[in-house]
Amino acid sequence: MKVLITGATGLVGQELTALLLSNGHEVNYLTGRKEAIKTEPNHKGYLWDVKKMTIDASCLQGVDTIVHLAGETVFQRWTDEAKKKIMDSRVNSTQLLLNALHDNKDSVKHVITASAIGIYPDDKNGHAMTENEVPPVAKNFLADVCLAWESMGMQFQELGLQHAIVRIGIVLSDKGGALEQMAKPVKMYAGAGFGDGKMWQSWIAVDDLVGIIKHIAMEKRTGVFNAVAPNPIRNRAMMEAIGKTMGKPVFLPNVPEFVMKLMLGEMAAIVLASQHVSSDTIEASGYEFKFPKLEQALQEYLV
Ligand SMILES: NC(=O)c1ccc[n+]([C@@H]2O[C@H](COP(=O)([O-])OP(=O)(O)OC[C@H]3O[C@@H](n4cnc5c(N)ncnc54)[C@H](OP(=O)(O)O)[C@@H]3O)[C@@H](O)[C@H]2O)c1
Repeated sequence: MKVLITGATGLVGQELTALLLSNGHEVNYLTGRKEAIKTEPNHKGYLWDVKKMTIDASCLQGVDTIVHLAGETVFQRWTDEAKKKIMDSRVNSTQLLLNALHDNKDSVKHVITASAIGIYPDDKNGHAMTENEVPPVAKNFLADVCLAWESMGMQFQELGLQHAIVRIGIVLSDKGGALEQMAKPVKMYAGAGFGDGKMWQSWIAVDDLVGIIKHIAMEKRTGVFNAVAPNPIRNRAMMEAIGKTMGKPVFLPNVPEFVMKLMLGEMAAIVLASQHVSSDTIEASGYEFKFPKLEQALQEYLV
């Protein structure tokens, strides 16, 4: 395959690039930063400017599959300015790709776009949410972003391309992201749950996430796929499992919800969300998880 990746320099994109290259595939990627451009035989960077809506359309040459991951990080205070960046970076980058494909889609057959499980409504009961659960969507900014992003993505189908959406859970990795943030206080014996600690957290090992994206690409799958491990866990239990793996027990009481909201503002919605998301569809499609259990993923990324 020759794959064009957006967001290739990010946490997920770097792992996906490494996986594809090590399996003999070619990778082109789009970046907004000149200094991130590489020109290697099987790995080439191209510039785009999502704000100015410019793109080097030669990035599409010979590409059969696009994986669209780029977007401003949601892990920042949701000021009006940040919200605009988070939304625009996803909607406008998708529009840029659509514009480029409109003029030049000869070789491209398949597009995989990212979304997030933040689209699912809050539910502490542990009802396993399937891809058919939406609508209704959660009522917060993150869900609005996912919905806008997914709706834009549907336009790839109107161009006659095959299209898959990957609703990504909480990504666990040893190179930053959510696990690093959760492990930091635990390291200093200051780990605790949030709110009542009963929120369901649907996590995924980064190796499985990129494995799923590759699987969908190789098999030219279409439709919506949850990218979460088969065993979600409640928030307090997640923190205690991290503590156990690190040999630093979590014994402090949970940080109350109002404190989280004071500390993080509206963005607290991410850490206080409860989504028990089902992995049935991706498993039924033939994907076998490397890290189905949290303890296995924590051993891999924390020890
Ligand atoms: N990590 C998670 O737990 C998680 C969970 C659910 C969903 N997701 C989604 O999955 C995707 C990949 O996640 P990730 O953790 O790999 O993200 P990441 O590390 O923040 O990387 C995202 C990439 O997007 C590009 N980017 C950043 N701001 C941008 C902007 N304003 N306009 C255009 N491009 C921009 C950057 O590439 P350049 O600097 O090279 O341009 C960056 O490397 C994201 O869209 C994220 O929302 C992630």
